[in-house]
Amino acid sequence: MKSGFTITAIDIGTTKICVLIAQINEDNSLEVKGIGTSPSKGLKNGIVIDIMKAADSIKSAIGEAEAQSNLKAKNIYVGIAGEHIKSQNTLGRISLTSGSQSCEITQEHIDDAITNSKNNVKLQQGNERLEIIHAIPQYYQIDDQKGIMNPLNMSGFNLSVYVHIVMADGNSLRNIAKCVELAGYKTQEIFLEPIASSKSVLNEVERDLGSIIIDIGGGTTDIAVFFKDSIRFSAVIPLGGTNITQDIAIGMHTSPKDAEDIKINQGSSLAKLVPKDEMVDIDGIAGRIGKKRKLRYISEIIEARMREIFENSYKLLSEKYDLSCITAGLTLTGGASLLSGTEKLAEEIFNMSTKIGYPFLERLSGATEQLDNPKYSTVVGILLQSYDALQEKDDKILKYKYSDPIMNFFKKIADFFKDFS
Ligand SMILES: Nc1ncnc2c1ncn2[C@@H]1O[C@H](COP(=O)(O)OP(=O)(O)OP(=O)(O)O)[C@@H](O)[C@H]1O
Ligand SMILES: [Mg+2]
Repeated sequence: MKSGFTITAIDIGTTKICVLIAQINEDNSLEVKGIGTSPSKGLKNGIVIDIMKAADSIKSAIGEAEAQSNLKAKNIYVGIAGEHIKSQNTLGRISLTSGSQSCEITQEHIDDAITNSKNNVKLQQGNERLEIIHAIPQYYQIDDQKGIMNPLNMSGFNLSVYVHIVMADGNSLRNIAKCVELAGYKTQEIFLEPIASSKSVLNEVERDLGSIIIDIGGGTTDIAVFFKDSIRFSAVIPLGGTNITQDIAIGMHTSPKDAEDIKINQGSSLAKLVPKDEMVDIDGIAGRIGKKRKLRYISEIIEARMREIFENSYKLLSEKYDLSCITAGLTLTGGASLLSGTEKLAEEIFNMSTKIGYPFLERLSGATEQLDNPKYSTVVGILLQSYDALQEKDDKILKYKYSDPIMNFFKKIADFFKDFS
């Protein structure tokens, strides 16, 4: 990729908007030049409910990242989540030849098979208003031979592809793009947040052996499953840490701000770990007299909501996917995964080895220390995913170029002269 190329990643979360502006260096590495965050306004459970407020929040986060980096935000990649997201596995198929001789598979054949899978999904009832945001090949089949990971240059009569398709409500997509536009910028592409988060917290071995990732944010919990290095399942549940804060505020008759402080500093997702007689001072609302309450009782409120999140996730997953394939285990990420006891509670419900996923910062240079927190997994993932997608595009252009016989001829001549230079 061209050195000096700028990539901007935006995570429009329900509690915060986070923007990273990065630049490609001469050695093709990715350097984070600017980080901007602002409290998220105008969004609920991943959906825009006030477009002007959301646009203002985006503008302020981009402005901060621009000021820090001295760069203009360009090539903007945005994450999306929300209950409107639908994902399914589907099949695309094409005939490679009508004759009796088999045919060598080109990149164009592969693209046609993927297009066929997209067309099949679009024709299904209930998908009319949805737009496809990802069509991710899982594996291929040539005639009767299944499990092929890359069919390019192989031969056969028929090519099938098993694809994970992610769709989003068309209006929700347009609203996100409109917010960015009202802030004065143009969206290049929209990514599904659970896929982006998994880029930043799962390594290749985990993606290959089988892993579940659950990103518990403020208003949404995003789930994705990876096996044999490709995505098998994704879903979004409209519950997160904000629900826990609201539950505490209602149950303790205190303000959301105090409820948030108690949750973060003293709360636990596993009430049995909290000593029975430990007490907490709870402030009353707007000057009313506060009182002392048992911390164990507050943690029971937290646990009830966390249980609901994990049990819903488990139900969704086990209905759609054979969990015995998950060899690596469960990774929790997102801000609410930091709640004390959450890892243990998830381990109990899923009966699976569990860890908290922090974003991989090794692939990035620059001042990235601030990003070492599970709440930044999505924005780091969007950045890594857009970088990989751009690189893949570059490779594809090269592949097309050199699979063309005329271009091949010129390349051979160029290589011949290179040997003498
Ligand atoms: N140290 C902590 N302990 C407990 N909870 C935390 C901690 N830090 C953040 N949170 C909670 O994490 C949530 C925000 O997480 P995050 O920043 O990942 O959400 P988001 O990306 O804005 O929202 P979403 O992904 O749902 O759109 C809030 O509910 C916040 O209270
Ligand atoms: Mg998030």
